[in-house]
Amino acid sequence: MIARGEAEVPGDKSISHRVLFLAALAAGRSAFRGALAAGDTRATAACLRALGVEVSPLSDGHAVRVAGRGLRPFRAPRGVLDCRNSGTTARLLLGLLSGHPFGATLTGDRSLRRRPIGRVAEPLRAMGAAIATAEGGRLPATVRGGPLRPYEHASPVASAQVKTALIFAGLVGGVPVTVREPVVSRDHTERLLRFLGVTVKVAGTAVTVHSVEGIPAFEGKVPGDFSSAAYLLAAAVAAESGELAVRRVGVNPTRTGFVAALERMGARLDVVDRAAYLGEPVATLVARPAALRAVEIGPAEVPSLVDEVPLLACLAARAEGTSVFRGVGELRVKESDRLALVARNLVALGVRAGSEGDTLFVEGTDAPPRGCVTTAGDHRLAMAFAVLGTVPGAAVALDDARCVAVSYPHFFRDLAAVLHHA
Ligand code: S3P
Repeated sequence: MIARGEAEVPGDKSISHRVLFLAALAAGRSAFRGALAAGDTRATAACLRALGVEVSPLSDGHAVRVAGRGLRPFRAPRGVLDCRNSGTTARLLLGLLSGHPFGATLTGDRSLRRRPIGRVAEPLRAMGAAIATAEGGRLPATVRGGPLRPYEHASPVASAQVKTALIFAGLVGGVPVTVREPVVSRDHTERLLRFLGVTVKVAGTAVTVHSVEGIPAFEGKVPGDFSSAAYLLAAAVAAESGELAVRRVGVNPTRTGFVAALERMGARLDVVDRAAYLGEPVATLVARPAALRAVEIGPAEVPSLVDEVPLLACLAARAEGTSVFRGVGELRVKESDRLALVARNLVALGVRAGSEGDTLFVEGTDAPPRGCVTTAGDHRLAMAFAVLGTVPGAAVALDDARCVAVSYPHFFRDLAAVLHHA
């Protein structure tokens, strides 16, 4: 394959969720361009509408408009709030609802109903919310907010969803919140709040947000999603020749561990044309083919590349030597058990790989990957293995290609547009 040309990817999923929620809390009407129009962010928009917030339809090329209703914006919903496949929607909403004085029930699809919500529900209960979850701390969950108390939480996991849910609860409840993490997770919430004039204190891995009088309405553009760009860039690295530039991608350092990992594997990405959108760094990323060597990934860098582990594992399948990913246990509670499925699918394609506890190993090979991939409806598995399916001689079939619509609806179109047969 030859990788060629320029691409742009859809708006950042994490930032789009946050922008939608914070715009609901703002005083007045906000409008922003570039928000992700995909399954997960549509779930957030639909929940906001069910809670009485006016949100215009999410569609490519159109600005999204949100009519903010102030710091406690929600009305009691009539039905159950369906977060579909979106963990960010469920966890962040649980935080926001914890400061509202009515009952609401959250649920999601089968994948989301197996994911842990207790990591958010427990600290929110300690703040004063009444939350009942299904067995094992899962969805459906019913929350009744109450007067909240100031809270300092030492989170056992580095999770931006936990951190953001608690910060959001503090904003709605009018109380200060501190969240300490073992390693700093993505800091989009902190950056966006600062962009909106809210003081955010950071001390080591702890972040504190005090109560505010209000949040101003805002405008701006959402950066392209680094995690989506990573698939196209990886396809260019695995190609035989050419050069690919992906423009206007968010390059927040808490998200770009993939760049550093690729560098250790022998592939350099150029970062040019830097800019800033909504308080976030943005740049053009340029990738070229490279001969890859195995990599070791350690626990401290995992939060910065957590969503790129399946993709890195697929690249590791083409690298010389055995790659080891340590401290990646969080992947077991993503949209699927990504650790088990990455290993199982690589084996199904003829690659030696395995997972045990919170470790994954992958032995690189020159043999073309051939076989069927079980995605379990997980968008990131589908896209990672689709990239592996572009190497010479590959024949990779996905059992479900449509699940990419969760975060990157036009993924296959964009991938085909940048790759050309030699
Ligand atoms: C996200 C945080 C990450 C990430 C997810 C989106 C967010 O999860 O895997 O895709 O928007 O905050 P955790 O921070 O819970 O690990």
